[in-house]
Amino acid sequence: MSKTIKIDGVDVPFEDGQTIMDAALAADIYIPHLCHKPGLSPHGSCKLCTVDVDGRAVSSCTMPASEGQQIANNTPALKEVRKTIIQMLFIEGNHLCPSCEKTGDCTLQALAYHHDMLDGHFPQFYPRRNVDASHPTLIIDRDRCILCELCVRASREVDGKNVFAIAGRGIKRQLIVNSPSGKLADSDIETEDLASHICPVGAILIKDHGYEVPIGRRTFDLHSIAETDLEQVILKKTVHHDA
Ligand code: SF4
Ligand code: FES
Repeated sequence: MSKTIKIDGVDVPFEDGQTIMDAALAADIYIPHLCHKPGLSPHGSCKLCTVDVDGRAVSSCTMPASEGQQIANNTPALKEVRKTIIQMLFIEGNHLCPSCEKTGDCTLQALAYHHDMLDGHFPQFYPRRNVDASHPTLIIDRDRCILCELCVRASREVDGKNVFAIAGRGIKRQLIVNSPSGKLADSDIETEDLASHICPVGAILIKDHGYEVPIGRRTFDLHSIAETDLEQVILKKTVHHDA
């Protein structure tokens, strides 16, 4: 008999070694997440996947499932915490959606809609961070980076490269490029790499491809962020092939 955890009263089976997030996704239960992608090592930084396990707040993407856990995923308090985290991410960068190419395809924006976020609540930081447009086909806009490290892990774990890292402390933390000049043009990243496509926001974009999908046909016009097999839809949509 398989082992189970209970999520919002529903029995969810799990295998040894799975996290609560793994078990939930396999059972088609959506737990909000931003820094987690199946296939990459868990990171535990965004805290959007916070659930209550036996009355204690934990990150479900790093917490191993264990027999008999009673987990709450959909409480008003958790929704409020998650909304606050999203608001903090919005005000800490320059997430000006009306002028961002990623609008409608952006996981951060979709999560904000999902959590009924109507404003940023906190004062805007309006940071000024460097744009790296040195690469022939890719651009980094650090004002939109949410430091999820998906590109860091994709480059290291899937592409077999080590193009990105996060450096600095506190509010000065930012995405850096591991090349002699620190510029993307001097790295070995290629357009086809997963790291070029995995950014859930508009921080790493493919040049010469913008506003190609009409309003009403973008990912989150057609799909809810709560669809648990969304990863493939997003990746398929964001890989561009030049003729
Ligand atoms: S560039 Fe994108 S994928 Fe990389 S850390 Fe920033 S938000 Fe995450
Ligand atoms: S998805 Fe779990 S901490 Fe980000």
